[in-house]
Amino acid sequence: MKVIDNLSTWRQLRRELSGSIGFVPTMGALHGGHAGLLERSVSENAVTVLSIYLNPTQFNNPDDLARYPSTMEQDLQLARELGVDVVLLPGYEDLYADGYRFRIEEHQFSRELCGAHRPGHFTGVLTVVMKLLNLVRPDRAYFGEKDYQQLQLIRDMCETFFMDVHIVACATVREPNGLALSSRNALLDAPGRARSAQFQQLLRSDLDDAGVARELERAGFVVDYVETRDGRRFGAILVNCGDRQVRLIDNVSLRHEQLAALASAG
Ligand code: PAF
Repeated sequence: MKVIDNLSTWRQLRRELSGSIGFVPTMGALHGGHAGLLERSVSENAVTVLSIYLNPTQFNNPDDLARYPSTMEQDLQLARELGVDVVLLPGYEDLYADGYRFRIEEHQFSRELCGAHRPGHFTGVLTVVMKLLNLVRPDRAYFGEKDYQQLQLIRDMCETFFMDVHIVACATVREPNGLALSSRNALLDAPGRARSAQFQQLLRSDLDDAGVARELERAGFVVDYVETRDGRRFGAILVNCGDRQVRLIDNVSLRHEQLAALASAG
């Protein structure tokens, strides 16, 4: 496995690569969800490229960025075990030589759901993903459905800008109690982690969105939003863990009968 931390080496190597290229962009602190994306890429492509880059432009809260977990040695070990061919570790100067003068902005969906609570977040995501896709030029790029809004926006961006890449969606990986795997779970204390299992249970329940939000608050979470759209219920909560709050997001697809019941009630 090649670990490359400068872009001129990568660009040289890219010219030499042949066969299909699968790409998994990440911010590190890899977990079972990332492992699923990497396994799928390894099984579907001749070459798998993993990028690890903690992208500052997508954090609207400096504390959130400072606290984001980093487990580089373990990440590289996991990548090696899964058969990743290249790990790209770009730096800020590589990716933002323009000082973030140029940005990819979307003016509708990126302002809703998570975007309504994290101004500028999706502009940072779309900008860095566009840059990484242009650098890697993969045939397929893999994203998890846990970040469903991100996945949808990236899909739309690629279609809008005629980008020649297939965006592959991979199902959310969950702990046995149903908690969606996320790098941020590492920030939860044991009671917070146990309590957070209720998040997806309530998202799946037959309650309407307001009822789910009410029950989440009753369980001690701060609710950013709970919203059903296009057959899916989305939510974001803050979990109080000692002196800090950890933000979790999740989404579940609702059953046909649930959607019918919600529609007739509302
Ligand atoms: O989902 C993530 O980890 C990040 O938003 C991504 C897509 C790697 C962009 O920084």
